[in-house]
Amino acid sequence: MLSVNHLLGIKDLTLKDIETILDTADTFKEVINRPIKKVPSLRDMTIANVFFENSTRTRLSFELAEKRLSADVINFSASGSSVKKGETLLDTVNNILAMKVDMIVMRHASPGAPHFLAKHIKANIINAGDGTHEHPTQALLDAYSIRERLGGIGGKKIAIIGDISHSRVALSNIFALQKLGAEVMVCGPSTLIPKYIKGLGVKVSHSVKETLQWCDVANVLRIQLERQQSKNFPSLREYSLYYGINKALLDSLDKEVVIMHPGPINRGIEITSDVADSGHSIILQQVENGVAVRMAVLFLLAQQNKPY
Ligand code: CP
Repeated sequence: MLSVNHLLGIKDLTLKDIETILDTADTFKEVINRPIKKVPSLRDMTIANVFFENSTRTRLSFELAEKRLSADVINFSASGSSVKKGETLLDTVNNILAMKVDMIVMRHASPGAPHFLAKHIKANIINAGDGTHEHPTQALLDAYSIRERLGGIGGKKIAIIGDISHSRVALSNIFALQKLGAEVMVCGPSTLIPKYIKGLGVKVSHSVKETLQWCDVANVLRIQLERQQSKNFPSLREYSLYYGINKALLDSLDKEVVIMHPGPINRGIEITSDVADSGHSIILQQVENGVAVRMAVLFLLAQQNKPY
């Protein structure tokens, strides 16, 4: 059992919750590698994936996880919907629930949107990314992938490099990795690192080489131009020159570093192809693990009290 009825953020989870999800994901990873990749666990449930923001990995991964668990699935995306005619978030979701939906997976550009829904609707909510706030299932699949690669997370040194200020992945990763006993460092230009970050107990660096020399794992983030209100660095070319991860940089280290990226990648900006596609990279393992981790989250939340 989890201590929560919704997955709104990693901040709300206990260490035991996180360990339960990761251990349950081990079982589902075995399931999705069988010839018949399906179990009947959620065959009595209907789940709606409600996406008000673009997504490739998260939306498809949730849909596949739901189908692997035998749930009925409906998909909503704001573009092409009656949101364009002025319908509110609450009305949209209540109309979806009136069709006898049990669980909502939601991505929204506004931080706190899933928390608002959880207060007002009668269904379990999973946050699939809320603006610059949290992306809990991404952090869980990242933690799962690190555990799988390194055999554990406690005592490991994990760096998050790039646009920390506009990233929901960074905040959820910091909460998850610290709860699991890792040391976390963030690295990027000072304009892309929020002032409050030191208060979370993470190290801060502005040197990508020093950061890579320190860490066991580097989680590389994209520049999230779509969320930036002002210019935070002179040009993408200059950003890439100072903060991009390339093979020459990795070769100059006296250690091996595992490279992660939540996607989507902007090749040649924050990471070059010879790193993203190399043996250092576990980017596609993260995507594979995302399905197993989301199956675990859906399965465990379905056992929780219904908030109605
Ligand atoms: N990592 C991630 O959230 O990717 P999408 O935006 O494609 O879902």
